[in-house]
Amino acid sequence: MSQHIRIIFATNNAHKVEEIQLAIGNTLGVISLRQAGIDIDIPEPHDTLEANALEKSSTIHRLTGENCFSEDTGLEVTALNGEPGVKSARYAGDHGDTEKNIEKLLQKLAGTTDRRAHFRTVISLIWQGHEHLFEGICEGHILETPVGSHGFGYDPVFVPEGDTRSFAQLSPEEKNRYSHRRKAADQLVSFLQQTQ
Ligand code: IMP
Repeated sequence: MSQHIRIIFATNNAHKVEEIQLAIGNTLGVISLRQAGIDIDIPEPHDTLEANALEKSSTIHRLTGENCFSEDTGLEVTALNGEPGVKSARYAGDHGDTEKNIEKLLQKLAGTTDRRAHFRTVISLIWQGHEHLFEGICEGHILETPVGSHGFGYDPVFVPEGDTRSFAQLSPEEKNRYSHRRKAADQLVSFLQQTQ
């Protein structure tokens, strides 16, 4: 695949940009919203990851007319019937208040022995005017207390299947080996390779 495909990643989350760039390597020139000179907060008003991802990619496509993609991710906990899911960022109210979100999650799971959970990432790609969806899932479980300082969001309480450390104890390269976001990004790259 040509290394000069330019594609806008519709996010303001610097962690996501870093993780996607690491997952994709130099197979694709990913431009963040900041690098594209776009300064907007795209709403996530829907009740599915898929609809929110499309909201973000189509908003940026309308603005720029360029190929672009977005992603929406949720932590889906088995004992909580899939919560916080699409509400992961605003579980405890304030958008992006990570500490409070983790606190609420641990309170809801207090005394629960079934700690199974997974992260699910949905990527919405708008390529030559058409939408394509890709999904990546990382199974794991929720710890009783947060540990580790890397990563973001729920990383300190999530242990991926196949490891004993939380995502926040892993280096970016190690997280990438297990990550939901990387798995979805792999599919995005394969799709683009097939279209070249
Ligand atoms: P959104 O995709 O920006 O709506 O993100 C939803 C929320 O899920 C974020 O605010 C984070 O708290 C959390 N989240 C998304 N991806 C990850 C991840 O890779 N690790 C930990 N938390 C994440």
